[in-house]
Amino acid sequence: MSDSSIVVVQPARSVHGRVRPPGDKSISHRYALFAALADGASELSGYSTGADCRSTLDCLRASGVEIDAIGQDPEGLRLRVTGRGLRGLRPPAGVLDAGNSGTTIRMFSGVLAAHPFAATMTGDASLRSRPMKRVIVPLERMGARIESADGGRPPLTVHGRADLQAIEYAPEVPSAQVKSAVLLAGLQTQGTTSVLEPLATRDHTERGLNEFGVQIQRDGLRVSITGGQRLAARHLGVPGDISAAAFWMVAAGSVPGSRIVIDGVGLNPTRTGIIDVVRRMGASVTVEPDGGTDPSASVGEPTGSLIVEHRGLGSTVITPDEVPGIIDELPVLAAMATHGGELQVSGAQELRVKESDRISALADGLRRMGGDIDEQPDGFHVRGRTRLRGGEVDARHDHRLAMAFAIAALGATGPTTIHGAGAAAVSYPEFFSVLEGLRA
Ligand code: S3P
Repeated sequence: MSDSSIVVVQPARSVHGRVRPPGDKSISHRYALFAALADGASELSGYSTGADCRSTLDCLRASGVEIDAIGQDPEGLRLRVTGRGLRGLRPPAGVLDAGNSGTTIRMFSGVLAAHPFAATMTGDASLRSRPMKRVIVPLERMGARIESADGGRPPLTVHGRADLQAIEYAPEVPSAQVKSAVLLAGLQTQGTTSVLEPLATRDHTERGLNEFGVQIQRDGLRVSITGGQRLAARHLGVPGDISAAAFWMVAAGSVPGSRIVIDGVGLNPTRTGIIDVVRRMGASVTVEPDGGTDPSASVGEPTGSLIVEHRGLGSTVITPDEVPGIIDELPVLAAMATHGGELQVSGAQELRVKESDRISALADGLRRMGGDIDEQPDGFHVRGRTRLRGGEVDARHDHRLAMAFAIAALGATGPTTIHGAGAAAVSYPEFFSVLEGLRA
């Protein structure tokens, strides 16, 4: 990925075709971590080709886990991960580099908290500006000690201990990363650890641990895990990433005359909020579940195909309770509104502490393209009354902004130059070539 990378996106008459998004980023991180903690060798297929998920593999390798790349197919990477068992990681020789990945550093902190050695994790400039107190506080309550830079930011040095204590924890912010860090630490204690979430977040950790043979109790917003359960090695496929599919859903739903079929998409109900919102904004979305996957089951990850067609654009309001289910899709939904709809979002202050301050960076970029967007402390309001004209925008080292600007650019009257477009490789290295292939 190069920060000086520039991509020019031309307006599109329409977009058509069939795509398979990369392996789900959230699930790839988790399966790699769980396989590393399991007894025996696991095989993973469809593993994300994005830089973030490579950061998790790099951190695991540096902690003594043997990971072999055994191939690559259209679904993603095939990996063999030789598990080291619970609390089996080795002290890394150097500093662990989580790159741009918040999921890596936060979830890894939970794993390291139960290892009786000190390990330091850092990342790129974006990651070093992100808040980590949300994991430091619960992990210190469990008995680990964590040093951080100013204001609880990376680098983090985790001083883990083998006698970590189980806790009951109610995070202040809804965050699947925090929930996962605490559950992973809890798995390595003697007692039962519970997390009581303020709002439901993605449940890939619960489903994934279940797949690896760990029992998890769920009762409404409370999730509990009893420590000491061993993980059994598994052969698992990672479904396509619905957050990557969202770019094609919005492209097809926004540009008149468009139709895109997206195959192999993960349809976990904690992630499908994007389908509802894209429909509310006027697109037709047909969901065809793959055989044998039950979306209502609480184990395993349901998958299917999505057929998305343009039908016109309307307006919608996203309420705070919906936000955790579509947090990563809000930039591209803002792009959808610029094509002629209207979108109002509140309760999304978490966007300010993502890979960039996504509220101000979105507002800045869309305005530079001629967009009409009001910024609020916890959200934004986009009115697509007039067509964008295009222009020059900066992705601010943020993969989702690079891709959201590209989708907005399809509806502009002139070209859009995206500076730092290479950031897309964090989750979707193939994004710009797939986009060109979809043009009519
Ligand atoms: C993720 C959780 C979300 C999301 C991120 C991936 C995960 O972050 O924005 O892209 O894999 O658990 P938070 O947990 O900070 O909300």
